[in-house]
Amino acid sequence: QEETAADTPPMGFNNWNATGCGEDFNEEMIMGMADLFVEKGLKEAGYEYINLDDCWAEYDRDADGKLVVDAERFPSGFEALADYIHDRGLKFGVYTSAGTRTCSGEMPGSLGHEAGDAQQFADWGVDYLKYDNCNNQGVPAEERYGAMGEALEATGRDIVYSICEWGDNEPWTGWAAEVGGDLWRTTFDISDTYASMLSIFKENVELAEYAGPGGWNDPDMLQIGNGGMTDTEYRSHFSLWAMMAAPLLIGTDLRDATDATYEILGNDEVIAVDQDRLGQQAAVVSSEDGRWVLKKQLADGSYAVALFNETGAAQRIATSADEVGLPHRGSYALRDLWEHETATTTGTIAATVPAHGTVVYRVSTRPSPAAPAAVEVGGTDLG
Ligand code: GLA
Repeated sequence: QEETAADTPPMGFNNWNATGCGEDFNEEMIMGMADLFVEKGLKEAGYEYINLDDCWAEYDRDADGKLVVDAERFPSGFEALADYIHDRGLKFGVYTSAGTRTCSGEMPGSLGHEAGDAQQFADWGVDYLKYDNCNNQGVPAEERYGAMGEALEATGRDIVYSICEWGDNEPWTGWAAEVGGDLWRTTFDISDTYASMLSIFKENVELAEYAGPGGWNDPDMLQIGNGGMTDTEYRSHFSLWAMMAAPLLIGTDLRDATDATYEILGNDEVIAVDQDRLGQQAAVVSSEDGRWVLKKQLADGSYAVALFNETGAAQRIATSADEVGLPHRGSYALRDLWEHETATTTGTIAATVPAHGTVVYRVSTRPSPAAPAAVEVGGTDLG
């Protein structure tokens, strides 16, 4: 099979969780994100797409029926913006809706304009399209998303197709992949609270069997850094999304992000779990009383095991190499992907996990796996 852009879950940035349609959503911000991807080591860590969400276009199409870039937000235009992003070795994404208008109502949707809009995206150098579900006029999802899938294909450009249908018509069951979708939203929008993150996790984690290379479940974009959760909760958010092989789209304004935010988003050992070539979404081993054990087999034969404490008090969470499915051995290496330390176990995989916290281990039969080369993120010493 041909190597496609979405062989592993897409990684990048999308402004929506940080700005919505606010004034901060403009080219200065977007170019700033591209700069920071390079300067802070996020590009090296695997983040690639710089995606624009709703509100990048004028309210009306022009006389030729084309979408018009909002010149107040993007005075340099999209060709210049795409160049800016591409020049840094990154990729450019845009958004519209499979309806008459987008979800904000502030810009036109692409229903009935699929071919023209897709060609315009390709002409601009767009590499990723997030295609929303608002104002869809009751046209069946398969038809609407199919029309855009065909239109993207017809441009001949390799454009990642993100189907944002909120799980309404169970896109994981097959139709979304058939229309060319590389990922599909499984839930309604995430908000920056532990309760929201948790409920989306619980929905998406049930859909493991439907995810794989080229077709990912999308539990929505990251809220890490936006201030509504503690860093412990944000570490859980990142751990659980990585275990679920979710797209990792940063949703905070990196220009004022804390060191802790950079440290979470830049954890290359957790990113490696998300990006593993096998493309498995984690399965639930157990979830008794909010003590979650998840396992994800990795391409090298090891397993990522997450111990997530849903509850408000510290809990001991335990499983075993046997229960996870590792081959029988006298000892296993237990690599803690947040502490970056390796221990040895004869089979018990356990930790006392703080309230709302997650411990992630990479468990292998090899006695002492070499740590991957460290990628420094957020630091200043990048020589
Ligand atoms: C919907 C989507 C969000 C975002 C907004 C933009 O709610 O699910 O991710 O794109 O629209 O208006």
